[in-house]
Amino acid sequence: MTQRVALVTGAMGGLGTAICQELAKAGHKVVAAYHPQFDNKDAWMQEQEAAGFKDFIPVAGDVADLASVQAMMADAEAKAGAIDILVNNAGITSDKMFAKMEREQWDAVINTNLSSLFNVTKQVSAKMAERGWGRIINISSVNGVKGQAGQANYSAAKAGVIGFTKALAQELAKKGVTVNAIAPGYVATKMVMKIKPEILQGIVDSVPMKRLAKPEEVGFAVAFLADELSGFTTGATLNMNGGLYYQ
Ligand code: CAA
Ligand code: NAP
Repeated sequence: MTQRVALVTGAMGGLGTAICQELAKAGHKVVAAYHPQFDNKDAWMQEQEAAGFKDFIPVAGDVADLASVQAMMADAEAKAGAIDILVNNAGITSDKMFAKMEREQWDAVINTNLSSLFNVTKQVSAKMAERGWGRIINISSVNGVKGQAGQANYSAAKAGVIGFTKALAQELAKKGVTVNAIAPGYVATKMVMKIKPEILQGIVDSVPMKRLAKPEEVGFAVAFLADELSGFTTGATLNMNGGLYYQ
């Protein structure tokens, strides 16, 4: 197989770690993009090495900040070469019923979860098109598809991710670049563990499979969409939510 260079944002979080690992298992060179304020980078790199993933290339940047992303992507290309596979995974929640939601909570979630796709994708999409090959995989959410009380900001951003995916897929379809989204249900990561236990229990009870997703289940779906043989799949949203919601 051709070895591709993959860059994953939010790489050192719960889903990001699994995505990096699954892409590495598929034979890709992986650039692990992390938040500059994340202070466990060295420990994370050591853990990955101990788990057999010795070649991750760390780069730092705030996905919500265009200048920071430009510097990060230049660093990534200098260290790893041109990016063939981009996984827009970094994200946050700031849940509150809309009546109580502050404008800062709206802005933070829209900037980090949606405007970040402009900032990061802009650095690679035209170059992928010029080379005639690329994979852009955007992590949306079941709550962007169905909406979720307490998450007007997050549901709006994650629905926006799907619209962005469909539009860019059309623009790049002739160029050998696919653009797809994954809409996971609730996955066992620190983002979900922030939910009050009694509320989380109610959510798990409402999932037909009666469990949270494992991060590696989402990582595997990313590797699938990044594969050569996924070349005819574009503009799609892969729902994987244990049966919680179908479109
Ligand atoms: N639908 C409608 N109304 C609801 C509701 C629901 N699902 N849940 C709560 N409410 C109502 C209550 O009935 C109550 O109404 P009254 O005031 O009229 O009695 C009101 O909301 C309670 O509001 P509060 O602001 O007092 O609630 P709170 O601050 O204690 O909790 C919350 C609000 C933080 C949003 C909490 O409900 C919560 O955590 N909900 C879960 C949200 C969620 O699923 N987040 C996912 C995070 S992980 C993630 O996002 C990953 C992913 O992609 C899946
Ligand atoms: P997580 O463990 O909290 O990971 C999120 C990662 O994003 C963290 O590494 C975080 O870094 C990084 N990040 C946040 N803001 C950033 C910024 N401005 N710049 C750069 N990096 C930033 O959560 P997760 O569950 O793995 O979430 C990954 C993605 O999956 C998110 O887009 C999330 O919305 C989506 N998702 C999650 C679930 C779920 O149930 N867990 C379901 C559907 C979709 P720091 O921690 O250093 O800030």
